[in-house]
Amino acid sequence: MSQHRTALVTGASSGIGLTYADRLARRGFDLVLVARRTDRLEQLAAELTRDHGIKVTTLTADLSTETGCRSVEQVIADDASVDFLVNNAGMGKLGALSDTKVDDLATLINVNVLALARLSLAAMQAFTKRGSGTVVNMCSISAFRAVAGGAAYSGSKAFVLNFTRSLNLETRGTNVRFQCVLPGPVKTEFFAAAGVDDSLFPAGSFITSEQLVDAALRGLDLGEEVTIPTLEDASSFQTLAEAFTQLREDAGREGIIATRYRT
Ligand SMILES: NC(=O)c1ccc[n+]([C@@H]2O[C@H](COP(=O)([O-])OP(=O)(O)OC[C@H]3O[C@@H](n4cnc5c(N)ncnc54)[C@H](OP(=O)(O)O)[C@@H]3O)[C@@H](O)[C@H]2O)c1
Repeated sequence: MSQHRTALVTGASSGIGLTYADRLARRGFDLVLVARRTDRLEQLAAELTRDHGIKVTTLTADLSTETGCRSVEQVIADDASVDFLVNNAGMGKLGALSDTKVDDLATLINVNVLALARLSLAAMQAFTKRGSGTVVNMCSISAFRAVAGGAAYSGSKAFVLNFTRSLNLETRGTNVRFQCVLPGPVKTEFFAAAGVDDSLFPAGSFITSEQLVDAALRGLDLGEEVTIPTLEDASSFQTLAEAFTQLREDAGREGIIATRYRT
């Protein structure tokens, strides 16, 4: 085993992923930075190497493709020093589904859902073999709400929440853990990349990527499974989760069709 710990960050070319790279570099991690824009990754790698004396590798990969996912999976499997994965790469809403091209819909689901799931699986297998590891899955408070004009995005993030919490149940009792981070609006290139005007949200509702990542890492240090940095009363999520568990129990306890469906 390498003495150095390495964190692999997807979507490290801007916004939240770039800030994760910076903060993890400060914590002494070597880094593998993944995104499509090679020039941005190389510039960041040079800065982080210079400022923190760490080893930084860049990997240009389009996570909407099979080839891109495979190249990242390979690094997670082969580099024994990797014990921290930030599944951050993601893309935004597409507008009304009826106006959406099927290829664009597939791209969003491939990046936000399939790539995140594949890399979580690769990390789970590798980290289990290595004895420990952490996966941070970037979600969104959009997971909590059905959104007209954001159906695929909201749906993709709802997947991330249930998927990540389920994996934690599977790794219970081991040193492999998953954290799900749910930001509200964050000032990044996200909205521009999605072709959406960010004035859609009240200016006061935005936080910076630095505020988000610092809070998320604090949540990780506190042992949280679900971190919602702008939610003051964390117990309200717990109450919601328990209500869903109860609903699942009520709906699945007996194989009897509800009275209102019986004629
Ligand atoms: N900003 C917000 O308000 C907000 C709120 C809640 C959740 N989030 C989530 O936070 C995450 C990061 O978003 P951000 O706000 O930092 O936005 P951003 O500045 O647009 O960054 C998105 C990152 O994802 C990468 N990416 C997009 N498509 C990719 C692909 N096909 N293959 C590989 N990398 C890809 C981009 O890199 P390249 O373009 O170089 O490939 C970029 O580094 C996303 O998962 C997003 O859903 C954001």
